[in-house]
Amino acid sequence: MVSYTELGLVHTVDLFKKAVSGGYALPAYNFNNLEQLQAIIQACVETKSPVILQVSAGARKYANQNLLKNMAKGAVEYANELGCNIPIVLHLDHGDSFELCKDCIETGFSSVMIDGSHYSYEENVALTKKVVEFAHSRKDYVTVEGELGVLAGVEDDVSSEHSHYTQPEEVEDFVKRTGVDSLAISIGTSHGRTKFKPEQCTRDANGLLIPPPLRFDILEEIEKRIPGFPIVLHGSSSVPAEYVQLVEKYGGKLSDSVGIPEEQLRRAAKSAVCKINIDSDGRLAMTALIRKVLTEHPEEFDPRKILGPARDELKKLYSHKNINVLGSANRV
Ligand code: 13P
Repeated sequence: MVSYTELGLVHTVDLFKKAVSGGYALPAYNFNNLEQLQAIIQACVETKSPVILQVSAGARKYANQNLLKNMAKGAVEYANELGCNIPIVLHLDHGDSFELCKDCIETGFSSVMIDGSHYSYEENVALTKKVVEFAHSRKDYVTVEGELGVLAGVEDDVSSEHSHYTQPEEVEDFVKRTGVDSLAISIGTSHGRTKFKPEQCTRDANGLLIPPPLRFDILEEIEKRIPGFPIVLHGSSSVPAEYVQLVEKYGGKLSDSVGIPEEQLRRAAKSAVCKINIDSDGRLAMTALIRKVLTEHPEEFDPRKILGPARDELKKLYSHKNINVLGSANRV
């Protein structure tokens, strides 16, 4: 059994408190390989932003949970070496069982999500409470994120055909009975690069899809019922048109891509939303640059020359998010 404190990691309690009172959100970036992790740490050190490193079920399967844990430990040392001791959280994204959350906590994760949103309300309460009791009973206190409401879209092994918004009437009871440290809600974001069907969108003058706005009315109602309680937004990639176009220019096919506009995320970050999950944008940036390099340099066969430019682009993307969207820059 390992404690996350031995790895130099932190939980989310103090970070969320500061984010809610400071009117910004922490970046929660998914990672499953070296280049992504380097880009995240470089960007967050340079912008002086705390960061949540997220590990999904797909990442655990692809890269091995222990290896990822040790990469996070290495990330703490790397950040120090780069000159800024930024707070780093290692978080399980979409844990689907008590056993998995327990396993991650005992491996050295400092935070876990138990996603019981696909169960009935009472089953969700019972499962979440069980994880919270275990996580909080540890002497190093591991933080727990719960979820109410269902997001549509596909994310690694988590998928849902139909979404339903969080019902504000449930949040107070859920938070009180489970003891969670933060709550993921559904107000119109969704996982993946096709967050809405074209028929749900309008088009701008250039024919680009404009999605329906997020349900800020639901968010405001939730904030009224649990004032200052840390809220989490999943499915918050913006799916930048420039990356989609770059992928397609170099032979990819990404029709009907549409994300959450940055100005809506900026607005959300100023509220009690204190953690914003972003994965797909990083995938798009990497894919765009890998395709570009392979097309422009067909003779190249050194993976470092193929992945290096993708890593540099990722770093640019994450810095941009921290500075211009989440407001997490210069918060260390
Ligand atoms: P995106 O697919 O919008 O990046 O969402 C990722 C996410 O919510 C991870 O939990």
